[in-house]
Amino acid sequence: MTGMDRPRRLRRTPALRRLVAETTLEPRQLVLPMFVADGLEEPRAISSMPGVVQHSLDSLRKAAVEAVTAGVGGIMLFGVPRPEDKDAVGSQASDPHGILNRGLRALADEVGDSTVVMADTCLDEFTDHGHCGVLAADGSVDNDATLDRYVEMALAQTEAGADLLGTSGMMDGQVDAIRHGLDAAGHIDTGILAYAAKYASAFYGPFREAVGSSLQGDRRTYQQDPANRREAIRELELDLAEGADIVMVKPAMSYLDILREVADRSTVPVAAYQISGEYAMITAAAERGWIDRRGAVLESLLGIRRAGADIVLTYWATEAAHWLS
Ligand code: PBG
Repeated sequence: MTGMDRPRRLRRTPALRRLVAETTLEPRQLVLPMFVADGLEEPRAISSMPGVVQHSLDSLRKAAVEAVTAGVGGIMLFGVPRPEDKDAVGSQASDPHGILNRGLRALADEVGDSTVVMADTCLDEFTDHGHCGVLAADGSVDNDATLDRYVEMALAQTEAGADLLGTSGMMDGQVDAIRHGLDAAGHIDTGILAYAAKYASAFYGPFREAVGSSLQGDRRTYQQDPANRREAIRELELDLAEGADIVMVKPAMSYLDILREVADRSTVPVAAYQISGEYAMITAAAERGWIDRRGAVLESLLGIRRAGADIVLTYWATEAAHWLS
């Protein structure tokens, strides 16, 4: 056959493939989510996320240095309080001595000049009922009362040294409330990484073990229905109008269509969160020898980048950064 269009011509050698690769994967594009737990002397394993741990304050510092040395772009910190310190309003979340704020201070002190320190601005780890907000008398999650708590949390996290606040609670108006609260306190340089489209996903399961969640039931009255696409655009537009500095789609792999659409419309950088269940699935299959771990991890990250994410939150951030450099 002559004169045929032959796409294989550009796949023939590694050099040709490298020359025409459209999507890049670099350590600086990866953000490592980390857990710090109150009262730990040693890191504690998370059984559904082999290789991921709840850190002590000491081990958090060490792992953060390792991540930064590998070149990761940022760290997203979650706090795990002692069960007996949880209460209905999640008091520990805004207490400067609460574990998340102590962890942020440790990170800011240890690596704050060389990476971006991010905080999860949500109440679910700290409430005794496990919801992302405070409850009304009828047991529903009270949107506007929750916003007041988020502002208190945002101020405490900023004072502890966070550069970016990850608003993961999916309350209406959360970006607006936090932006105004920060500005009123003079914190005009603290940024908001808005979880614009966050779906009520079964793939959060291992995370709930990771943070010792107390949740009974589900989050379907505030997180999005996996059936819906347009709603993600509505959430994106609201978050942009409210002043989001970066927007996020979560989970990643089952929502790559949403990610592409958000990326096409966003006027700010776009992040995607490869969540705990995605980590667990690949890890479990690789442990059984059913898939090649490194190949599957890198392909999953590349796919998320190709779908439009500028930034990827992944529990493999440090390891992938090593592979990539
Ligand atoms: C809520 C929050 C969740 C995750 C990050 N922030 C869990 C939830 O909505 O129940 C999940 C992350 C993961 O699964 O890796 N603060």
